[in-house]
Amino acid sequence: MTEPPQIAPAEGKLGILTPGMGAVATTFMAGVIAARKGYALPTGSLTQLSHIRLGKRDDGRNPLIKDFVPLATLDDLEFGGWDPYSDDAYAAAMKAGVLEARDVEGIGEELRAIKPMSAVFNSRWVRNLHETDQVKSAPNHMDSAEALMEDIDRYRAEKKVDRLVAVYCGSTEAYEEPSDVHMSLDTFEQGLKDNDEAITPSQIYAYACLKMGVPFANGAPNLTVDIPAMLELSAQEGVPISGKDFKTGQTLMKTMIAPGLKARMLGINGWFSTNILGNRDGEVLDDPDSFRSKEVSKLGVLEHILQPDVYPDLYGDIYHKVRINYYPPKGDDKEGWDHIDIFGWLGYRMQIKVDFLCKDSILAAPIVLDLALFMDLAARAGWSGIQEWLSFYFKSPQHAETVYPENDLFIQLTKLKNNLRHMMGEDLITHLGTEYYDEA
Ligand SMILES: NC(=O)c1ccc[n+]([C@@H]2O[C@H](COP(=O)([O-])OP(=O)(O)OC[C@H]3O[C@@H](n4cnc5c(N)ncnc54)[C@H](O)[C@@H]3O)[C@@H](O)[C@H]2O)c1
Repeated sequence: MTEPPQIAPAEGKLGILTPGMGAVATTFMAGVIAARKGYALPTGSLTQLSHIRLGKRDDGRNPLIKDFVPLATLDDLEFGGWDPYSDDAYAAAMKAGVLEARDVEGIGEELRAIKPMSAVFNSRWVRNLHETDQVKSAPNHMDSAEALMEDIDRYRAEKKVDRLVAVYCGSTEAYEEPSDVHMSLDTFEQGLKDNDEAITPSQIYAYACLKMGVPFANGAPNLTVDIPAMLELSAQEGVPISGKDFKTGQTLMKTMIAPGLKARMLGINGWFSTNILGNRDGEVLDDPDSFRSKEVSKLGVLEHILQPDVYPDLYGDIYHKVRINYYPPKGDDKEGWDHIDIFGWLGYRMQIKVDFLCKDSILAAPIVLDLALFMDLAARAGWSGIQEWLSFYFKSPQHAETVYPENDLFIQLTKLKNNLRHMMGEDLITHLGTEYYDEA
């Protein structure tokens, strides 16, 4: 195993930039500001609340993660971002309708001070947004990327931040397979200059951030940092990347339930998942091409957890269907139904029904915080490229070409914590446990 890295201390301020300042980003910002004022607990955040066991079970060492690894503190964070709508974070949060007025009382001033920078936006990729009021106009994609780099420089100077990370919280872009322009950094840079129409705005953000040494996590299902050009750029610049698509709601449930059924060798022959939601994300996903990005990212999960090739009798013939329906009266209060057909001993059939009345952005916000803090930690540890240990947070985790992605939430958690132990030179936990029974 590699030696534990040297980790630079988390000195000074950390700026968190979100391309996209909608429901998720503003809920995240509001929650952090409320938490640091002591108004709310940062529920759902491992970096803030989770403990990590070190050494043997009877050693009694179980510190908080934030006391174990050197993370930026909530007080050290500054927020910023880009959006094609000029609403400040307060107005955007109110429009998103996730938080109630009483929850933003006392933090309105801080939220109003967070104003998005003008966006790199193209309605070819996000069709259902209209009347945008601040979109950069540049002759070609390379000029747009340079304008973003200038934004980053200006933000760094104005806010006096020492380090930056970016977490993409913009709308889901239409689905497209990667094309030749994405296959190397050279072709991508040429494509930027030629205004190649296969290059999406999220890829231009990623390019600009990586060029500026800013770690980039992708919370949306679109192809952004998981294209060869970005892998090359992240290696060249020595910057960490991770993605994609925050694991919230229905997929979170799926990656909890499926490993449990598989652990008990219970068969599955059908899994129907449907959702109704009424926020702007739902409106964007009402467009079939944007939905296709989401569908691809959601469908892979079961296959990798259940391994139908290894267990054809149990999982070789699953009918797996995912649907998202835009239904405005629901607002951000999504309702997700799962109907699961399972079978047990002698093939007897059973059903599981889950009705999850969830608040997507409430589940996504702590993920943005954890990703920002862990990506910054990775950068200070000198780690670059894909951060597979952060798979825990993603529906469709990025992975090396030679391996399948790890989707099982519990394996992902073990992987995350073992990475932290390794980082700090602690023994990894194998759960072997024989030492407690050895004769003295
Ligand atoms: N809410 C969740 O739990 C969840 C879970 C997984 C993934 N996601 C993804 O996170 C992203 C954000 O979700 P949300 O609920 O906040 O959506 P949202 O629609 O409320 O916010 C997205 C914001 O991005 C902006 N935007 C669109 N194109 C942009 C561009 N080119 N540059 C900058 N900003 C741009 C929009 O104007 C909007 O303000 C979506 O891609 C969504 O699929 C969300």
